[in-house]
Amino acid sequence: MDELQQIAQGAPALIGAAQSLEELKAVETELLGKNSVIAQKRRGLGALDPADRPTVGAKINEVFTAIQANLSDRQRQLEIIEENALLVGDRVDVTVPHVRSQFGTQHILTTVMDEVSDIFVSLGYRVAAGPEIETAWYNFDALNTPSSHPARAESDTLYVDFGDPADEMLLRTQTSPVQARYMQQHEPPVHVVVPGRVFRSDSLDATHSPVFHQVEGLVVDTDITFADLKGTLEYFARTFFGAGRVIKLIPHFFPFTEPSAEMHVSCFACDGSGCRVCSNSGWIELMGCGMVDPNVFEAVGYDPSKVSGFAFGMGVERLAMVRHGITHIKHFFENDLRVLGQFV
Ligand code: DAH
Repeated sequence: MDELQQIAQGAPALIGAAQSLEELKAVETELLGKNSVIAQKRRGLGALDPADRPTVGAKINEVFTAIQANLSDRQRQLEIIEENALLVGDRVDVTVPHVRSQFGTQHILTTVMDEVSDIFVSLGYRVAAGPEIETAWYNFDALNTPSSHPARAESDTLYVDFGDPADEMLLRTQTSPVQARYMQQHEPPVHVVVPGRVFRSDSLDATHSPVFHQVEGLVVDTDITFADLKGTLEYFARTFFGAGRVIKLIPHFFPFTEPSAEMHVSCFACDGSGCRVCSNSGWIELMGCGMVDPNVFEAVGYDPSKVSGFAFGMGVERLAMVRHGITHIKHFFENDLRVLGQFV
């Protein structure tokens, strides 16, 4: 009985000293486990004088229950302590000063290409793309451009493979080859715009660069007329440059359209009276366009007696330069953030 009493008295200190749930588990094993004094006493009950058994048995149970209660109190305490420690460890100090992250922004040329595409998408056009390394067939032949055409010379076009016209590969000089690719893959009606990068063997000057961007457009259906071309381009000009703009179409030549035209828009800066933006002419040349040549339809497997269409192609750098008064094309590619940061 003395020994039991001693254990009962010593247990709270032992339990209280456990600093973690793991340590508490060890204390529990020591106090109540198979090899504990209490377990031994219980096993020894049978050997006692029958008269003493109820008293000793009751004492064992009393000490056992008290220790158990003490253990579960301490367990609850330790659980709270450990949970708090976890919360403190995970705490984020929102007052710590930080360096603001520098996020990238879209390049002005991408913004303009998106804006042009969006205007046509709002009219129901789809956006398509094609490869930058192109065959001579798609870049020239399918577009009714004969082998003798000066644009096909090595001095004008950057060839990857030059010599035999059947195998020639080049960096596309225009987005127009995607017209042919798209028509081969889709039945009319077609309403598509193609923003993309193009390449020419040009030296860098204020308005030319060997790499630049275009947005191509193509519409094909059973009854498309020049009036549709004019109305569409006028809508584009007014949406992009402002409601008051008017356009004019001046006869021109492109191999893949007949008739072909250059589209000019009245100057948005001076309203047509003449200023620096429009070189005093009152007009800004914006793009090439025309009615799709029947030979192009034949090249892609469309029947020119059944369908008609119009096409157009504009330079993205040019659009951005006139709109923002950028005086040299190099600014788009030098990536000086002091320049590009103005158009975010
Ligand atoms: N591809 C022509 C160029 O790079 C621009 C162009 C003119 C595209 C007339 C067209 C078009 O689709 O019909 O100069």
